[in-house]
Amino acid sequence: MKSILVLGAAGQIGSELVPYLRNIYGDKNVIAVYRSTPLPREIMEGGPCENMDALDGEQMLSVVNKYNVDSIINLVAVLSAKGEANPTLAWKINMESHFNALEISRQTKGAVFTPSSIGAFGPTTPMDHTPQDTVMRPTTVYGISKIAAELLGDYYALKFGVDARGLRYPGIISNVTLPGGGTTDYAVEIYYDAIKNKSYTCNLSAGTYLDMMYMPDALRACAELMEADPSKLVHRNCFNITAMSFDPEKIAAAIRVHIPDFRLEYKVDPVKQAIANSWPNSMDDSAARDEWGWKPEYDLAGMTSDMLEVLRKKLK
Ligand code: SER
Repeated sequence: MKSILVLGAAGQIGSELVPYLRNIYGDKNVIAVYRSTPLPREIMEGGPCENMDALDGEQMLSVVNKYNVDSIINLVAVLSAKGEANPTLAWKINMESHFNALEISRQTKGAVFTPSSIGAFGPTTPMDHTPQDTVMRPTTVYGISKIAAELLGDYYALKFGVDARGLRYPGIISNVTLPGGGTTDYAVEIYYDAIKNKSYTCNLSAGTYLDMMYMPDALRACAELMEADPSKLVHRNCFNITAMSFDPEKIAAAIRVHIPDFRLEYKVDPVKQAIANSWPNSMDDSAARDEWGWKPEYDLAGMTSDMLEVLRKKLK
């Protein structure tokens, strides 16, 4: 990657991926695109930024030409729970932004990175050690848009030679920008509430296991996949990747190592619970490990120490 356009730069992943990539590829070579949510000052002042609608293909093409972009990273998405509240909007935003990125990359012979998700799986998927290639019949509009985006990425790679690649991210835990409208959001909120109140009311039930990952691993995975030798990639869209699998009880126990009197209560959200029940308990990410050397650095204990340390300073 030489000149990188990051769509959705103000979001949970984008707000950390832009500085991460600027560090590797140079400040002026990473263009942060945002629409309604303002960018953090560090991003605004750190390199090129464009206020643009990712659903407007013409505008996207002119920005791509302006900066001679060779790689588009599309982080624009309506997440799972929010998508169930407004399926039409979720489909439109998730699919049109992806289609524009692929179509433009077809014209410019560029590369596209698309995050897929554990949400691309469904209730008929094997739930434990979910294989790379398996049954995928998601039951949320978010999941349906993600599996469609995976297939469209492979189609553009096969048919037009677009270098389309992607990852099936698990729930991403981070401490800069909050996620919004996802089913795995509880695993971020629990750390904020642990620091603020020493207690948290969880909207998923005990025993709900889901794959998760700390943000530094998620950022590194994106860059490593995009730089991977294409001749080694059997798969493209998208790779299972995971770092840990836990339920609310397990994350609470990890927090209690640092905050012994932390209390966990439950008030289950039926929409989120149904979504979580349709997703894997734990994915098998051996294809990513074999094809491009994926290996996470953070486990639950390591992530918890770091999250609590960072949030203690941030929330002081
Ligand atoms: N974090 C996302 C969500 O919960 C899953 O990819 O919607």
